[in-house]
Amino acid sequence: MSKKERIVLAYSGGLDTSVAIGWIGEQTGSEVIAVAVDVGQGGEDLEVIRQRALDCGAVEAYVADARDEFASDYCWPALKANGLYQGEYPLVSALSRPLISKHLVRAAREFGASTMAHGCTGKGNDQVRFEVSFTSIAPDLNCIAPVRDLALTRDVAIDYANKHKLPIETTKNNPFSIDQNVWGRAIETGFLEDLWNAPTKDVYSYTDDPTYPPLPDEVIITFQEGVPVAIDGQELTPLEIIQELNRRAGAQGIGRIDMVEDRLVGIKSREIYEAPGAMTLITAHQALENLTLEREQARFKRSVDNRWAELVYDAQWFSPLKKSLDAFIDHTQQYVSGDIRMTLHGGRATVNGRRSDESLYDFNLATYETGDTYDQSHSRGFIEIYGMTAKLAAARDVRFGKDEDLAID
Ligand code: ARG
Repeated sequence: MSKKERIVLAYSGGLDTSVAIGWIGEQTGSEVIAVAVDVGQGGEDLEVIRQRALDCGAVEAYVADARDEFASDYCWPALKANGLYQGEYPLVSALSRPLISKHLVRAAREFGASTMAHGCTGKGNDQVRFEVSFTSIAPDLNCIAPVRDLALTRDVAIDYANKHKLPIETTKNNPFSIDQNVWGRAIETGFLEDLWNAPTKDVYSYTDDPTYPPLPDEVIITFQEGVPVAIDGQELTPLEIIQELNRRAGAQGIGRIDMVEDRLVGIKSREIYEAPGAMTLITAHQALENLTLEREQARFKRSVDNRWAELVYDAQWFSPLKKSLDAFIDHTQQYVSGDIRMTLHGGRATVNGRRSDESLYDFNLATYETGDTYDQSHSRGFIEIYGMTAKLAAARDVRFGKDEDLAID
């Protein structure tokens, strides 16, 4: 092994991180090991990306196929938590960063690197997620961010790539900043920064326009202990399930999101997402929880789910609190098993059937027809006692003349 310091770079194959390989070398005198992690982002062949890293001057280049791991160990916990930041964003990028970090740290150990590098700017959440993840799993490693810390701006990157004849496109055709994986796709910047501008057709690629949908598509999703195991009776792997629903729900234009989001760094930003599979699965999972979770557990879980999403959004994947909430959420999922039937059509995934051996729904209690086992005469006494505290408080208000709610005018 050489005496030079080694740096592991989170490599995407794009312009910025390709230029960063040589740029980091020049600025720090270190050798660069490029690591690309496949989380189902699609696009270019990863072997092509690996070769490009070597052509750009990396001493080692490494591609990790983390798609199955991402689906089962990151997307499924998010599904169990109905993970939606601000009630809308299914945490697409926030979920992938901890996993990418894990693979980068593994490469750092394998290749004897002392420092990690990522291509994020200083304005977003992803820099925080990478660096807090690194610190959480490898506190001894340093971290640099060439775009943020070593002045690698877009213009510098284009000049550098042209001057060194790097094998990478330097045109700026795409005005958007895009991050994608199998759980969804995030699109920001460009004309979307004007909040009044509606997204144009070219913004989307996981979903077709829901205005002109194909015929309705009926799907049955089978869950076991909170996670899907089969679609239309066919057992599939976690990755296959997400891919299949991305395809079918994507064709119906399901899972398009346009929101203004509160970033961890204090900025409000306009974000467009498309997550057809994720949104379909979350809708189905919530519907199944509605019949299998006990009422108080379900009510409490809603606030836990919300907190879980905030923690994951806020770069706390490896934090003690997030792990404690995982334990709670896992415990709630023991009876979340059964089938959910949905119609996918015109931008919506609508639940229209559910069945479960673990259901708490009791037909005989709920029915208004014959066979009713619910004794309605008990309700009178229940309400008398349940309403006692309200009655006492109201009587006191009357005594003190503060009976605004009783005034009739
Ligand atoms: N705003 C989202 C988040 O913080 C998406 C970020 C996507 N990253 C990107 N480079 N476009 O999770």
